[in-house]
Amino acid sequence: MSIDTITVRKAENGLRGTITVPGDKSVSHRVAILGALAEGAMKVQNYLCSEDCMNTLRAMQQLGATVVPGDAPENFTLTGTAMQPVAPAKDIDCGNSGTGMRLMAGVLAALPFSSRMYGDPSLSSRPMKRIIDPLALMGARITACGEKPGCAPLSIEGCALKPVHYDLPMASAQVKSAVLLAGMLTPGETSVHQPSITRDHTERLFAHFGVPCKVSEDGLDISTHGPARITAKDIIIPGDISSAAFWLVAASVVPNSDITLRHVGLNPTRTAIIDVLRRMGADINISVTQENGEPFGDITVRTATRLVGTEIQKSEIPNLIDEIPVLAVAAAFAEGNTSIRNAAELRVKESDRISTTVNNLRAMGAEVEEFEDGMVITGGAPLHGAVMDSYHDHRIAMGFLMAGLNASGETTLLNCANINTSYPSFVQHLENLIS
Ligand code: S3P
Repeated sequence: MSIDTITVRKAENGLRGTITVPGDKSVSHRVAILGALAEGAMKVQNYLCSEDCMNTLRAMQQLGATVVPGDAPENFTLTGTAMQPVAPAKDIDCGNSGTGMRLMAGVLAALPFSSRMYGDPSLSSRPMKRIIDPLALMGARITACGEKPGCAPLSIEGCALKPVHYDLPMASAQVKSAVLLAGMLTPGETSVHQPSITRDHTERLFAHFGVPCKVSEDGLDISTHGPARITAKDIIIPGDISSAAFWLVAASVVPNSDITLRHVGLNPTRTAIIDVLRRMGADINISVTQENGEPFGDITVRTATRLVGTEIQKSEIPNLIDEIPVLAVAAAFAEGNTSIRNAAELRVKESDRISTTVNNLRAMGAEVEEFEDGMVITGGAPLHGAVMDSYHDHRIAMGFLMAGLNASGETTLLNCANINTSYPSFVQHLENLIS
């Protein structure tokens, strides 16, 4: 079934049931990249088999890693190249994934061969200078060959790099990780300073695989020491809290809902969405069930008795950056104002998520004021269904389908195929929870 156009109606019976959201996208990319350079074989469980992460896994196979399928598509054995990858025989397709391209650039820049990465129209319009600049300070030779200046395709002439200290101009886990991955392959100490805490999956995976990694007490300074050896070690990837976020919001706003999300990653650099929703009045209960480099748990959500608007703090933005479209939907159902500022990074995601979120909120009858760096939503008025574009952005598509579950009439999202980049089982989970 094509999921390019999806229509939902008000979920009259509430959302009910238990689902297991798929593996974490950020962790999956990193596991593929580090596993491909590791010495030995490791069992990977719960890899995200979405287009984005499969592109990264295929890229790593082009570099010589091998994948032996396990009992399900998301479980496999990954054998690395012991830091001896081979030059890719053809250009690397990164599809829609900024994470894949930016992280792989850090690795490819430090390897002794040439490579070229390209992506779809959305990825080809996203800024790559943010990783080219710090990597160039290390001596990397990366040319942005896109029609738009500073954009993909990226042509990389790999060479030996020198270590740097880099002060990140923006709070970006992708930029931080690109530098640290290059640093891992470079003799000496490479360090970064980030203006605020961003997701720390790279640091945690470095620790898991025995790559040197020091993090300052405040979490803002991170260093690694190369050339590192990566020791293969089995890993279980947690469920993606960014995928869980859609259901956290939908179950909070749709009357008569009671759902459980199993095996969700609860890394504290990713859980700001839970903190913010709770602050707004959401009824969310968590039980941490295990720890495998990252904490995991089950989350139960019931309809909130009352949701109220809130002000998102600047320091919270990087830790819920991907959840902002669906958080804006929650805000439209909450009484009073929700202010989301200091979030200009949203303009350079898979779509300009400030304008696409604002357009769609307005299409459903919500009151919202747009700013260069965010939006202020005045919630509480009922929303009505509409036909909306998802602008080929998976999180806009899923976020506004959630809005449709609590809006009058029919809500149709066009150009939704990109849901497959992060959440291939989304439609099945939607059907399970509303039936
Ligand atoms: C990611 C970091 C975030 C996020 C993206 C995944 C990562 O981007 O939006 O979906 O895996 O490092 P930035 O770090 O560029 O904000």
